[in-house]
Amino acid sequence: MNFIPVLIITLILLIITILLAVADRLLVTYGECKITVRQEDETNEFTVEGGGFLLSNLIENNIDITSSCAGKASCGYCKVRLLSGGGPILPTEEIFMSREEKVSGMRLACQVKVKEDLEIYIPDFLTTVRTIVKNKTYDPKLRWRFLMDGRDVATGEKTKTKLNRKDQHRVEEIISEYSGVPGAVVPILQRIGNTFNHLPEPVLRYMAKATDMPVSELYRVATFYNAFSLEPKGENIIKVCLGTACYVKGGERILDTVRRKLGLQNGNTTEDLKFSIEIVSCIGCCGQSPVIRINDDIYGYLKPSMIDDILEKYAGAKNGKNKT
Ligand code: FES
Ligand code: FES
Repeated sequence: MNFIPVLIITLILLIITILLAVADRLLVTYGECKITVRQEDETNEFTVEGGGFLLSNLIENNIDITSSCAGKASCGYCKVRLLSGGGPILPTEEIFMSREEKVSGMRLACQVKVKEDLEIYIPDFLTTVRTIVKNKTYDPKLRWRFLMDGRDVATGEKTKTKLNRKDQHRVEEIISEYSGVPGAVVPILQRIGNTFNHLPEPVLRYMAKATDMPVSELYRVATFYNAFSLEPKGENIIKVCLGTACYVKGGERILDTVRRKLGLQNGNTTEDLKFSIEIVSCIGCCGQSPVIRINDDIYGYLKPSMIDDILEKYAGAKNGKNKT
């Protein structure tokens, strides 16, 4: 069989598709479109410039919507029900939808282009989670936190969603330093992490708005790099090495001892935010294994019996300064 004609036809079709997409972007304008958002107990309305994607429009207008793939149609979490408008479901959405969902007009908000007025219904979070579990479309690596009426359901603690003026000012200052610098997300997050000790959720939301980026994209970057933490870190960072040399010389026993002495059953940071533990795969001092590093200090040839004295040096020290 001669594949050349098939190849030529495929190429022509591909070029036509690209040209149509470019023309759609450059030549077609949709004017202003009204989006009506119905949720369990409230309805919101806002107007957007047509041509963008529904997910971005919702995030920009501070509508809470679940998403973890930054709109790449790979998580399936951004499901909404279209009550009017929106066109037919796309092949990219099909895999995330059960038959009933397709029939009831469910769509992925990241795949719906806003070309006309839309009326949508966003299911409450619990329904979203139930559907995700039922359809087995969840990512088991993601950690979920349940908030209800501004409180964390597990801990009952009130969650802060807005920034105070002082913190807003601090974030604005950092962002303005990078104004016009392409690809500045990572350095901005680094500065924010250093300023706030971690990347608090209200700060990420504020930054998303100020930089015109989807908050899901910021979360993607923040959870990709080990250097970033969404949880507050301790004043003193203990890096316990479990690289090959340290592991064979008893690194795990050292880790257990440090955790026990700090009373860490779950999590890696003590309640008083004095210490955080991180596991690393080499500190560059393999000759002295097993090794830990606390802030800038290296401790080698360790035995579990030495841990008490070492921790004691930092227990009352301010901001990681070794008392000795
Ligand atoms: S599928 Fe992940 S945001 Fe839409
Ligand atoms: S393996 Fe632990 S310092 Fe290299």
